[in-house]
Amino acid sequence: MKQVAPSFLSADIWRAAEQVQALEDAGCRYLHLDIMDGHFVPNISFGPGWVKWLRPHSSMVFDAHLMVEEPDFLLESFAKAGADYLTVHVEAVRHLDRTIAHIRDLGMKPGVALNPTTSLTTLDEVLPLVDLALIMSVNPGFGGQKFIPYALQKVERLADIRRSCGLDFLIEVDGGVTADNAASVAAAGADLLVAGSAVFGKPDVAAAYAAVQQAANS
Ligand code: DX5
Ligand code: ZN
Repeated sequence: MKQVAPSFLSADIWRAAEQVQALEDAGCRYLHLDIMDGHFVPNISFGPGWVKWLRPHSSMVFDAHLMVEEPDFLLESFAKAGADYLTVHVEAVRHLDRTIAHIRDLGMKPGVALNPTTSLTTLDEVLPLVDLALIMSVNPGFGGQKFIPYALQKVERLADIRRSCGLDFLIEVDGGVTADNAASVAAAGADLLVAGSAVFGKPDVAAAYAAVQQAANS
């Protein structure tokens, strides 16, 4: 079963508690948490404090996506805050093997993310070490952007690599996913589909989540 992970970045901060509860009641199992530092990406979102605040209010899997330079300084804070998956960008980390091992040692599931133009070959050595590989289908930094079509072939190639190497990490696709393209993203090989504006950006988040979830499994 493919899973949609709504991105909290697009939540209506005034109604966030109600929206998160509505998603959980609708059967949503993953909450995507976009962390932006204003350096790796040209935007600032929120940090581990918010994750800590959300944690007691939700039993969803917390899927934190660090779009930050030098994420090593933040790993411990996210472990303490209650992140389940912690994903770092290969473009932002100097010693990726060490960072992945540290994330696992802290009790979280490590993930690696690639910007749209970063080659899959940068993951060759680390795929056996991670629980998740995230393919960006927009240039990270903002919700509500358009899906970059060539990301689809990248997902297909990653799914082929996973099959041929007998690995079992999750493939996550992030950016511009909607009820209209979720079926093709899932068919390309994504297990987890991040949807920000297509879920949190709609007046009825539970219905919007159900629509994308249904399309992903159609
Ligand atoms: C992009 C973030 C995404 C984004 C997705 O920088 O990593 O998770 O919030 O939002 P939509 O689904 O609106 O493209
Ligand atoms: Zn994200």
